[in-house]
Amino acid sequence: MVRTKTGIQGLDKALNGGFPDGNIVLLSGGAGTGKSTLVMQFLLNGASLFGERGLYISTEQTREELHRAADKFGWKLKELEDKSLIKIIYFDITRGDDFLNRVDAMVEEFKPKRIVIDSMTTLTDSLMISGIGEKEAFSMVQVAESVNPIPRTEQVIAKSILYRLIKELKKFKVTTLLTSELPEELKQLSADGITEFIADGVVILHFLGVGSAEFRSMQIRKMRYSWHKRDHVLYDITGKGIEIKEEEELKI
Ligand SMILES: Nc1ncnc2c1ncn2[C@@H]1O[C@H](COP(=O)(O)OP(=O)(O)OP(=O)(O)O)[C@@H](O)[C@H]1O
Ligand SMILES: [Mg+2]
Repeated sequence: MVRTKTGIQGLDKALNGGFPDGNIVLLSGGAGTGKSTLVMQFLLNGASLFGERGLYISTEQTREELHRAADKFGWKLKELEDKSLIKIIYFDITRGDDFLNRVDAMVEEFKPKRIVIDSMTTLTDSLMISGIGEKEAFSMVQVAESVNPIPRTEQVIAKSILYRLIKELKKFKVTTLLTSELPEELKQLSADGITEFIADGVVILHFLGVGSAEFRSMQIRKMRYSWHKRDHVLYDITGKGIEIKEEEELKI
């Protein structure tokens, strides 16, 4: 099986060598758990270690803000952009332009091997508000209602939008990471409670504070077409980014 390595030691091991090529993977976690750091590292490693082009679609941080974060970690983002190995598009959700068409055009032109959408939560919220995809959603709900008298809920609309989005992304056959905000108390695996079922893989980032001690761990909850580790994998965010704590280090 062809795999897309994250280049993050310990994570690739937990993934049995990396993400299966072409998988759409949801990366969920609470605020500040390191979602943006991890996806950026995924693209930077892809570009610098394997010469693979990466597309960063950001709906939260602007290009400048992402540069500021990368600079703090000492990452050569500008250099890789200049070499056309990385491209950042900031999608202003308040403008409501046609997201899918723009992504389509960008993928066609840039031909990335890796795509990141950070974050899926802001994107779906904005698509819901601007009503993009609502026409399709509406007809889908009408069919559903004629069979079963359920109300036309927001969830059904969100589901239809997400299906459409992920179906489009799958067409690219590019390994893709989608971030999603996840409040700690939620039982579901993504902010919308839907993406986890459509995505090929789900990785959850956890944060646990006990007294003055802090623990960060990630867990691969699902990865279609692959064996993967099921236990929690402990990690830290250091000056170099996400670092997985190797098991040997844990045996004190
Ligand atoms: N140089 C550093 N050294 C140690 N920790 C850092 C460093 N830079 C950032 N961090 C940690 O990383 C966290 C931010 O990571 P990141 O932005 O990737 O999280 P996120 O999950 O994307 O957050 P959000 O929910 O806001 O999008 C900070 O809250 C901080 O705890
Ligand atoms: Mg973030």
